[in-house]
Amino acid sequence: MFQWSALVLLLLLPQLSHGILLEKFNDLKRDKFDFVIIGGGTAGNTVANRLTENPDHHVLVLEAGGSNENVLLSIVPDFCVKTLGSAIDWNYVAQSGPAVNRDMEYPRGFILGGSSSINCMVYTRGTREDWDRYANVTGDSGWSWDNIQPYVRKNERFTPPVDGHNTTEEFDPSVHSFDGMNSVTLSGFRHEVDTRVIQASKAMGNDSDFRFVLDMNSGNHLGIGFGQSTVLNGTRSSSATSYLGPQFINRPNLHVLLHAHVTRILSTAKNLTFRGVELSQDSGATVHTVSATKEVILSAGSIATPQILMNSGIGDRKTLTNLGIQTVHHLPSVGQNLTEQPLLSYNWVVTANDTEEEATRNVTLAAEQLKQWNDTRSGPLVDAPGLNLGWFRLPANASIFEEFEDPSPGPNTAHIEIQFVNGGFTPENPPPNLIGTNPTLLCPTSRGFVTLNTSNPFNHPIINLNLVGTEFDLFAMREGIRNTRRFMASPSFDGFIVSSTINATTDDELDEYIKANVGVAEHPTGTAMMTSRDADWGVVDPDLKVKGVRGLRVVDASVLPFVPAGHTQVPTYIIAERAADLIKTTWD
Ligand SMILES: Cc1cc2nc3c(=O)[nH]c(=O)nc-3n(C[C@H](O)[C@H](O)[C@H](O)COP(=O)(O)OP(=O)(O)OC[C@H]3O[C@@H](n4cnc5c(N)ncnc54)[C@H](O)[C@@H]3O)c2cc1C
Ligand SMILES: *[C@@H]1O[C@H](CO)[C@@H](O)[C@H](O)[C@H]1NC(C)=O
Ligand SMILES: *[C@@H]1O[C@H](CO)[C@@H](O)[C@H](O)[C@H]1NC(C)=O
Ligand SMILES: *[C@@H]1O[C@H](CO)[C@@H](O)[C@H](O)[C@H]1NC(C)=O
Ligand SMILES: *[C@@H]1O[C@H](CO)[C@@H](O)[C@H](O)[C@H]1NC(C)=O
Ligand SMILES: *[C@@H]1O[C@H](CO)[C@@H](O)[C@H](O)[C@H]1NC(C)=O
Ligand SMILES: *[C@@H]1O[C@H](CO)[C@@H](O)[C@H](O)[C@H]1NC(C)=O
Ligand SMILES: *[C@@H]1O[C@H](CO)[C@@H](O)[C@H](O)[C@H]1NC(C)=O
Ligand SMILES: *[C@@H]1O[C@H](CO)[C@@H](O)[C@H](O)[C@H]1NC(C)=O
Ligand SMILES: *[C@@H]1O[C@H](CO)[C@@H](O)[C@H](O)[C@H]1NC(C)=O
Ligand SMILES: *[C@@H]1O[C@H](CO)[C@@H](O)[C@H](O)[C@H]1NC(C)=O
Ligand SMILES: *[C@@H]1O[C@H](CO)[C@@H](O)[C@H](O)[C@H]1NC(C)=O
Ligand SMILES: *[C@@H]1O[C@H](CO)[C@@H](O)[C@H](O)[C@H]1NC(C)=O
Repeated sequence: MFQWSALVLLLLLPQLSHGILLEKFNDLKRDKFDFVIIGGGTAGNTVANRLTENPDHHVLVLEAGGSNENVLLSIVPDFCVKTLGSAIDWNYVAQSGPAVNRDMEYPRGFILGGSSSINCMVYTRGTREDWDRYANVTGDSGWSWDNIQPYVRKNERFTPPVDGHNTTEEFDPSVHSFDGMNSVTLSGFRHEVDTRVIQASKAMGNDSDFRFVLDMNSGNHLGIGFGQSTVLNGTRSSSATSYLGPQFINRPNLHVLLHAHVTRILSTAKNLTFRGVELSQDSGATVHTVSATKEVILSAGSIATPQILMNSGIGDRKTLTNLGIQTVHHLPSVGQNLTEQPLLSYNWVVTANDTEEEATRNVTLAAEQLKQWNDTRSGPLVDAPGLNLGWFRLPANASIFEEFEDPSPGPNTAHIEIQFVNGGFTPENPPPNLIGTNPTLLCPTSRGFVTLNTSNPFNHPIINLNLVGTEFDLFAMREGIRNTRRFMASPSFDGFIVSSTINATTDDELDEYIKANVGVAEHPTGTAMMTSRDADWGVVDPDLKVKGVRGLRVVDASVLPFVPAGHTQVPTYIIAERAADLIKTTWD
C-alpha cells in the first residue's frame, strides 16, 4: 500500500456539495423523460448539459458509479496514477492477445465524470488529418477538422497556469478557445525533466525530428512541445466538474441518478424502437425501468457500450445465441475492431531531486506537498506527472512500408508519441529517482474485441486487446524505442541521466522486451464504430444512430472509426458536442 493513502484519509476538504445528484431510484420524481443517457462519463455529461439548455427537455443521466464530489484521488491532478485499482476504477482485466499473452489491469472511470474523472488529463485533439479521415470514411464532411472547430471551441476554456508564469513561448493562443466549458492549462509547476526536454528539442533545430513545436493542438503536431492538460486552478477539470458544474446541476429538467447500473435497453414494440432502459442499484435484486419518449443515448464508453448492446440483444446472432441471449437485431460489428495504443514504460535513473519518487520515499515530504496544494493550490501536485509530449513519424523509406500500407492518416501525423513523465512508477521499494520517456504507437494495425463472458450483465466482459499483434506494430514500437534513445542522447541531458532501464538493442532483443513489458495508453476505440450510411458493417451511422433500429444513438469514444493520433478525451468531447447538435436538430 502507498503511504499517501493515510494522508488522503486525514485530509479534510471543505464540503463542496452542490446541486442534486440522486442516490436512490425512488428519489426520481418521474419515470418518463425525453432523453435517457446511459453513463455519466466524458460524453454523457456533455450531451446532458447541452440537451438541458432547452427547458422543455427532461434528461435523465444514469451513472453506475458514485459522486465525484470531495473525492481527493480524482481532484488532485498529481494523484491521477493512484486512481488505478481504486474504488473509482471499474477494475477490468484485459487479455493482451497472442503476441503478449498475459492479463493486464484495464482501468475505466467508475464515478461521475467517467474516465475524465480518473484520466491523466492530457489535452490533445488529434490532427487535421485524423479528422479529415473521419469525414472521409463516414462520408460526412461534418466530421472534418474545419467543421469540428466550433465544437472544439465550445468544449475548451483555456486558463492561465497557477504559478502565473509567462506562457507566450509555450502555446499559440490563436488556436485556443477561452470561453468554453472544460478548463485547459499549461504546467503550473516546472520540474527539471520538463525544462531539459524543451531545451534539448530547441537545441536540435527545426530540421530535426525532435524540433520544438509551439502548439501541438493546431492540427499539425510533429515535434516536441509543452503539454496542455484539463486542469483548472490546480484541480482536475472533468465532464462532472465542468458540464455538470454548480451553474448547471440545478436545472430542474436535469436528473442524475448515481449507483444506477444499466443492464439492458428495451424495445417497446416489435418495430425495433428502443424506449426503455432497465437498471438496478443492487446487482439485480431489484430491477427498475425508465423510458425515453424521444431517444436513448448510450454513452457507457468503449467497453461497456458494446456490453450493454449485446445484453440488449444487439450484436452478432451466433455469439448471442451461444450465450442464450435472444437476438433483437443482428449487428456483427458490435464489440469488434477494438483499437488500443500500445505504450512501453521506458524509465531512466536520473540525478534530479524533484521526481515523484522523492515523495514516494518520504512521507513527510508527501504531507508537505499535500498541505501546500490544500492551502494554496500550488506546488508539485497541481499537475499530472506527465506533461510534455513528442510526436514523430517513421521515416518514409522504412523497410516496413514495403509490406504494410502506412496506417497513419497522412504525412503530417505521427506514428509514435513519446510521453515524458516525471517519475517511473516502479514497484521497487525504495525506488531510485526516475523519469519515463514512454513510446506509444498511435496508429496500431492490430484489432482486438470486446465480447460477453456470460449473460449476466453484472459480470465483466471479455476484453482482448491483441497488442502488437502485427509485424508493423512491433516494428513501430522498436523504432519508438530507438527514436527515444536518439533524443535522450542529446547533450542537454548530460549530468541528468544516470542509466537506462532498457538494454535491449537488436530487433530480437527489443521484440522480446516489448512483448514482456508493453502496456497500453488506455485509449480504446472502435467497438461501436461509425461508418458511412451505405456501409454494410459498423454499428452507427454518421449521425451516431445505431444502424437498423430506432430511438438509439451511441455517443462516446467507441464510435471513433480509427484511434486518433493522440489521447482520446478531447475527441470524445468533440463527438459529444456535435452529437448534441445533431440530436437538437432532430427534435427542436
Ligand atoms: C487511466 C486512464 C488515463 C487516461 N488518460 C488520458 C489522458 O491523459 N488524456 C486523454 O485524452 N485521454 C485519457 N484517457 C482516455 C479518456 O479518458 C477516454 O477516452 C474518455 O474519457 C472516454 O470517454 P467516454 O465518454 O467514452 O467513456 P467514460 O468517460 O469512461 O464514460 C463511461 C461512463 O459510463 C458509466 N457506465 C459504464 N457502464 C455502465 C452501466 N452499465 N450503467 C451505467 N453507467 C455505466 C461509467 O461508469 C462511466 O462513467 C485515459 C483513460 C484512462 C482510463
Ligand atoms: C476519401 O479519400 C479518397 C482518397 O483520398 C478520395 O478519393 C475520396 O473521394 C474521399 N471520399 C470522401 C467522401 O471524401
Ligand atoms: C512574456 O514574454 C514575451 C517574450 O517571450 C514578452 O514579449 C512579453 O512582454 C512577456 N509578457 C509579460 C507580461 O511579461
Ligand atoms: C524554427 O521555426 C520557428 C517557427 O517556425 C521559427 O520561429 C524559428 O525562428 C526557427 N528557428 C530556427 C533556428 O530556424
Ligand atoms: C414503433 O412503436 C412505437 C411504440 O409502439 C411507436 O410509438 C412508434 O410510432 C413506432 N414507430 C414506427 C416507425 O412504426
Ligand atoms: C473491422 O474494420 C474493418 C476496416 O478497418 C472492416 O473492413 C471490417 O468489416 C470490420 N469488422 C467488423 C466485424 O465490423
Ligand atoms: C535540488 O537540486 C537543486 C539543483 O539542481 C538544488 O538547488 C536544490 O536545493 C535541491 N533540492 C533539494 C531538496 O535537495
Ligand atoms: C523528507 O522531507 C522532509 C520535508 O521536505 C525533509 O525535511 C527531510 O530531510 C526528508 N527526508 C529525507 C530522508 O530525505
Ligand atoms: C485543508 O484545508 C482545509 C480548509 O480549506 C482545512 O480545514 C484542512 O485542515 C486542510 N487540511 C490539511 C491536511 O492541510
Ligand atoms: C483558485 O484557488 C485559490 C485557492 O484555493 C482561490 O483563492 C481562487 O479563487 C481560485 N481561482 C479560481 C479562478 O477559481
Ligand atoms: C532512408 O533514407 C535516409 C536518408 O534520407 C538514409 O540515411 C537511410 O539509410 C535510409 N534508410 C533505408 C532503410 O533505406
Ligand atoms: C468468465 O467467466 C468465468 C466463469 O465464470 C470466469 O472464471 C472468468 O474469470 C471470467 N472471465 C472474465 C474475463 O471475467
Ligand atoms: C543492463 O546492462 C548492465 C551492464 O551489462 C547490467 O548491469 C544491467 O543490470 C542491465 N540492466 C537491465 C535492466 O537489464
